Amino acid sequence: MAAPAVLTTAREAADIAEATRRAGRRLSLVPTMGYLHAGHVRLMAEARARADVVAVSIFVNPTQFGPAEDLSRYPSDFAGDLAACAQAGVDVVFHPDVQQMYPAGHQTSVEVAELSRGLCGERRPGHFRGVATVVAQLFSLFRPHTAIFGEKDYQQLQVVRRLSTDLHLGVEVVGMPILREADGLAMSSRNAYLKGAERTRARALFMGLEAARVRFREGTVEPALLLGAVREALRAADVREDYVALVDPDTLVPLARAVPRARLLVAGFVGATRLIDNVELG
Ligand code: PAJ
Repeated sequence: MAAPAVLTTAREAADIAEATRRAGRRLSLVPTMGYLHAGHVRLMAEARARADVVAVSIFVNPTQFGPAEDLSRYPSDFAGDLAACAQAGVDVVFHPDVQQMYPAGHQTSVEVAELSRGLCGERRPGHFRGVATVVAQLFSLFRPHTAIFGEKDYQQLQVVRRLSTDLHLGVEVVGMPILREADGLAMSSRNAYLKGAERTRARALFMGLEAARVRFREGTVEPALLLGAVREALRAADVREDYVALVDPDTLVPLARAVPRARLLVAGFVGATRLIDNVELG
């Protein structure tokens, strides 16, 4: 596979987007923070299938990290990421530095109000403002026809869908299912933080979600009981709950009674590492 073109400036990104549109070709964008794994690669394959030009952005976006979070130690492997992009047939890798995205004087941010409020938004104040801001910038630079996101970050996916609609950006936002390790753990760049036995304990998130799905299939519709099944799995593995919630899949509002399309989401700390996961209930 040919190596992708690496762009580091906003100007180059806008120029490629313009040239692509002028040539009547379709562009698909996969925004990432790098340290790419098979879950990201699956998104790139989807982009490849949907467009003539595939762009992947690799940018650890500082505005979506809280002051006590892992910005400074977020894992990176740019050479490995480039190889993965080449293998996946990616045409363009956009790898800007912080100055490119947030030059001196930058002061505009994007807030998707209601969808950003609960769940991770409540636990990580300002997180989705940072996500929405950088995604709006990437959409403005690349003006992609489609953008591919993972259901792994389910709330983020809904926030991005809303922002594309509300700002009339015209980007079709495509959500892809979560890719998992053999034992069910959702693939994540942050899994690299797990030390020794923590890796085994981390299975509790998916095991809890699965236990709740079994309860639902057996007829349990009471949210407290379904959430209880997740909490039990977390407790058994000594995973500290950040939140567990059963919500409407579109509005993310908590449900009074479980239905098949309901989304069950969990966030928990395995040692110092915060992990998230979710499933459709039915
Ligand atoms: P990052 O965590 O690198 O994830 C990039 C994309 O990959 C997201 O859409 C995420 O949902 C998806 N992804 C991660 N793990 C996955 C898995 N196991 N299966 C399927 N998809 C998976 O999410 C971000 O970066 C950032 O917030 C970003 C959108 C780039 C904005 O900075």
